[in-house]
This record gives sequence, C-alpha cells and structure tokens, in this order.
Amino acid sequence: MGIASDIAADWHAALAALAWQLDAGVDEALSDTPVDRYGLPEAQPAPRPAAAAPAARPQTPTPEPVRTALDPVAVAAAAAAAARTLDDLREAVAAFDLCELKKGARNTVFSDGNPAARLLILGEAPGRDEDLAGRPFVGRAGQLLDRMFAAIGLSRQSPDAESALYITNVMFWRPPGNRDPEPAEIAMMKPFVLRHIELADPQVIVVMGNTPLSCLTGHRGILRARGNWTTALDRPMLPMTHPAYLLRNPAAKRDAWADLLAIRERLRG
Ligand code: URA
Repeated sequence: MGIASDIAADWHAALAALAWQLDAGVDEALSDTPVDRYGLPEAQPAPRPAAAAPAARPQTPTPEPVRTALDPVAVAAAAAAAARTLDDLREAVAAFDLCELKKGARNTVFSDGNPAARLLILGEAPGRDEDLAGRPFVGRAGQLLDRMFAAIGLSRQSPDAESALYITNVMFWRPPGNRDPEPAEIAMMKPFVLRHIELADPQVIVVMGNTPLSCLTGHRGILRARGNWTTALDRPMLPMTHPAYLLRNPAAKRDAWADLLAIRERLRG
C-alpha cells in the first residue's frame, strides 16, 4: 500500500473512532493523551479541611477613658495634708487649679506677718489692693486692722513672736467685684485653712467676718457671734466684726475695742 492510501486509512479509522465515541456519549475532549484510570494509585483521602481557627473573639470596642470630674475638696485635702511646712503649703495653694477665682486673680494672696506669732488673724478674701500687692489686708480695712492691733501692742512687722501678728484669709484669690465667697469655694479652701492653722500653730485665733466664721464653725451671724470665745482646732478663737464693717459702721468700734482688750487678756493669761 502506498503512503497516500495509508493516510487515507488512518483518517477514516480516526473518523470512525470519533463517531463511536460520540455514540457512546463522549461530549468533551479532556486531554490529548489517554489516561488509564485503573492503573492510577489509590486515590488519596481528600485532605481534611484545615482545622478551623478558634473563633475570633468579638471585638470589644476600646472604652473611652472615663473622665471623672475631680473633687476639688478631696484634691485640696490631699494637697494640704501633704504639706509639712508653711512653705510647702504656700506652694500647694499656688499650684491648686480647681478654684475658678484663681483664673481672674492677679496674685495668690497667702499670708503676711510673722508665722511665729501667738495670734493668727483669719480674714475673708483679698480685695483689689491685696490682689495687686499679693499680701492680705493692705487696703483701707487692712490699715485699720493694723491700727487696732497696734493699740494692744501687736504688729505684723514684729520679729518678736510675743508681739507679732500672723495674717491670712480663707480665700487665697480675689472674688470678682469683691462678692462674698460661695459656700463651695469656702469648702474647697477649708482643708488649706485648717492645715495653715496647724502649721502656724498660734495660741489664739481671731476670725474677722462671716466667711472665716462659717469656715471654722459652720455658722454665720458674725454680729451675734462677735465677742464670744469659742474653740477651733483645740485653741481659743474669738469672732470679731470685719474692719471693713467698722469703716462703714463706726459705732461698732466700741465693741471691737472690747474684743481687742479680751484678746490682750487672753494672751497675757
Ligand atoms: N478683707 C479681708 O478679709 N481680707 C483681706 O485681705 C482684705 C480685705
């Protein structure tokens, strides 16, 4: 047989084989080379699906930091308790930022006079002159205070503890327009005031006006309380009318003079 007839025979054989496969239901050619499926090795077990990763925890949103409002009285109490000396306390007061009055004040008015004095005078709050000077009782009321106590031989300039005065206020910052300090403001300053008295350790305390009276006793009513000795921090305390009141009510100076004589007697005793 010639080559041409061989090719024609293959072509017819291939066509016949394809027709047979079509008749057998083959509908798709997968590969050019036949695969003997029986000669293949045992089918490997299908790989197990990868172990399921532990279920991720539901994402808890990171909580916003809780901003608790600081309790000014507690902060003041902690700062005051930590003060070991008057200088410490002065610094603690100057660093205290929770009193709104501080924002409007030019100066922190801490004290004046001789810390070794036997007599401590506690006033209300700085006024304009005190705010400017950074010292308590330097305005008209303060000048009257100086004259009053000079009359019984006491002065803030005295280096001698026997004849000296130590002067401070409940509030360390001037209230706007010289308004009365509010109860919350007084409560905030009270830990500093108590520690101030403890550290200065005077023999006798004089409170001038309603603000220091209410700070140390919880009561107002200075006109009724004046002249009546009481006790604060285990030592004698005398309420007196404020020198600013005496400037407006000169007739009240008589009672103030009686109070000054009572202080002189107490310091002698
Ligand atoms: N009145 C006060 O009570 N304190 C001062 O320092 C000045 C005026």
